[in-house]
Amino acid sequence: MTLPRTAKVSFGGDYNPEQWPQDVWKQDYQLFDLARIDTVTLGVFDWALIQPAPDVYDFALLDRIVDRAATEGRMICLATGTGAHPAWLARAHPEVCRTDFEGRRHRYGQRHNSCPSSPVFRRLSAELARRVARRYAGNPAVVAWHVGNEYGGACYCDLCAAAFRGWLRDRYGSLDALNAAWYTTFWSHTFTDWAEIEPPSALTEHWRGPDHTAFQGITLDYLRFTSDAMLTNFRDEKAAIRESSPDLPVTTNFMGMYRPLDYHRWAPHLDFVSWDNYPPDDTSAARTAFAHDLMRGLKDGQPFWLMEQTPSVTACRDVNPLKRPGVLRLWSWQAVAHGADAVLFFQLRASRGACEKYHGAVIGHAGRSDTRVFREVADLGAELDRLGGATLGARTPARVALLFDWDSWWALEISDGPSRLVRYPQVVLAYHRALWDAGVDVDVVAVSADLSRYDVVVAPVLHMVKGDLADRLAGVAARGGSVVTTFLSGRVDEHDQAFLADVPGPLGPLTGVRVDEWDAREADVVNPVRLGTGPDQVEVASRLIFELVVPQGAEVVGTYRADFYAGTPAVTRNAYGAGEGWYVAAGLDPTGVSWVLRRVLERHHLVGPYADVPDLESAVRVTPDGTRLRFLLNHAARPVEVTARTAGVDLLTGDRISDGGAVRLPAYGVVVLKEER
Ligand code: GLA
Ligand code: ZN
Repeated sequence: MTLPRTAKVSFGGDYNPEQWPQDVWKQDYQLFDLARIDTVTLGVFDWALIQPAPDVYDFALLDRIVDRAATEGRMICLATGTGAHPAWLARAHPEVCRTDFEGRRHRYGQRHNSCPSSPVFRRLSAELARRVARRYAGNPAVVAWHVGNEYGGACYCDLCAAAFRGWLRDRYGSLDALNAAWYTTFWSHTFTDWAEIEPPSALTEHWRGPDHTAFQGITLDYLRFTSDAMLTNFRDEKAAIRESSPDLPVTTNFMGMYRPLDYHRWAPHLDFVSWDNYPPDDTSAARTAFAHDLMRGLKDGQPFWLMEQTPSVTACRDVNPLKRPGVLRLWSWQAVAHGADAVLFFQLRASRGACEKYHGAVIGHAGRSDTRVFREVADLGAELDRLGGATLGARTPARVALLFDWDSWWALEISDGPSRLVRYPQVVLAYHRALWDAGVDVDVVAVSADLSRYDVVVAPVLHMVKGDLADRLAGVAARGGSVVTTFLSGRVDEHDQAFLADVPGPLGPLTGVRVDEWDAREADVVNPVRLGTGPDQVEVASRLIFELVVPQGAEVVGTYRADFYAGTPAVTRNAYGAGEGWYVAAGLDPTGVSWVLRRVLERHHLVGPYADVPDLESAVRVTPDGTRLRFLLNHAARPVEVTARTAGVDLLTGDRISDGGAVRLPAYGVVVLKEER
């Protein structure tokens, strides 16, 4: 099963009419008409409304809400309503509330706070989903199911401890295997009974916080368990939905680069991916591009839904900047450029009270249509209408893959040594950013992905190397491709145990290097790295981590300039089969990362046409009938003009652009060029 079948990019968002009297609904739909809003996500937080008491299910209000949306001709993404449990449930069954990392059993409050292992929560959440699906599955307006909401967090209660032990038994089969995997001989930790195993928390293996653990193996498995436990909650609800709705797609809204959940383990269980895009500020275009690529990569490049974004401001941050005029449109098109087949907002009408009353909305408290934000939403709605189905189902023709791995992320960040300052997302983002600047389409994929279709595979901080990954990476180079990896790669196996080999372990043959020592320094310590030779030579800064490389056949491309290892390799390239394996041993600054990746991309003629135009993003999608759509997105607050490299028609204006003709983009402007070739 795949995405909901729609005729155009779905447009709309979260809508909570249960917060309003019905005369407001009328006004809402008039405004939705004006803005061409065709899709509403309903019922995300309706548990207490639908089930006001243990034995009472009351659908009267949700019936009216759903009927109204259907009568008004909207498509409905219908939630199961389990994102927040009701107060009566917490009172009757206190164990549905989570126990935190410090061991405090929480009482009723907030949302997204249910213990994933609580049998009562599991039973009642699935029952709610079952009843919602049974009641509305036959309604043709319902096009998708939205399970829960933004799964996340963790619980350390006794029920989770018991479930963790069960999960471990399934994984290891025996205590001997578990003791071996966790390396429990260290500090006399040998477990002789499953009941001795405790969740790793502030009360047990941790100090200072969730990243400081005495046993990485235990903490890593608890992270995996937690992700799986919440996935079980999702699957409980999905199975309940399937009893009456065999063919409507089911999703839940992800959060991009979100550490607690291994979305690669989740994605196979979703029919389509959807995610919520709340970048921290208006300078996050590259980061957002990364998140879109990551989300698209979860299901093998299948398009996704942008389930939520604010039209204007968030409310949850200490400081909540306003999207500048044009940015709502620009970022919506950026989502489409990277694979979104829906553009949805949180929220359609602002809440009057509670913590999101200042969160942006298509319709504000005054209900006006003559605001800037409403006008921008309505203009975008009209534009998406004109576009019709031109982008639906289109794929990104990426020849470059960037590997992303939650296990590596977790293992790196819970490690004592070499440096707490090396953060997985920062390194991955730096490498993605360099690719983005080069204007190349990138698939961000799991380490288990099929790599045979890529010319270039970039694997930053590939800390953990699992299964046959090293062989598959070597295979990319063997057939002529290029592989780039960095410091702190090839260090540990799936149990977080060091390889009994030279660093970078199984990546040694591909990279042609050996690392015997490494140095980590405070952020203000710079070791300059000289890259290249002759006129091509540049000097860049490196920081945080400096591995000392002993080439084992690799050619030296860059060298350290300072300290006792001055003159030794910081960047190497190894000829391997018909291709090459690069090793970046130092925490290069963005210029250095770019320098390396440009050379790699040039080898495969993959540098994009507008690589050197600052803030101009270029992304390609190829439709099911083979049409190439080139999206140009001007992230700068000033106009830009470039030369078209192919003739085509701008789908947003209908203007024809000739090969070699000028393409003018105003500040925050967008062009969707249907290429003729
Ligand atoms: C999340 C949630 C929504 C809402 C928004 C506000 O994405 O899913 O319910 O709280 O944040 O930004
Ligand atoms: Zn729990």
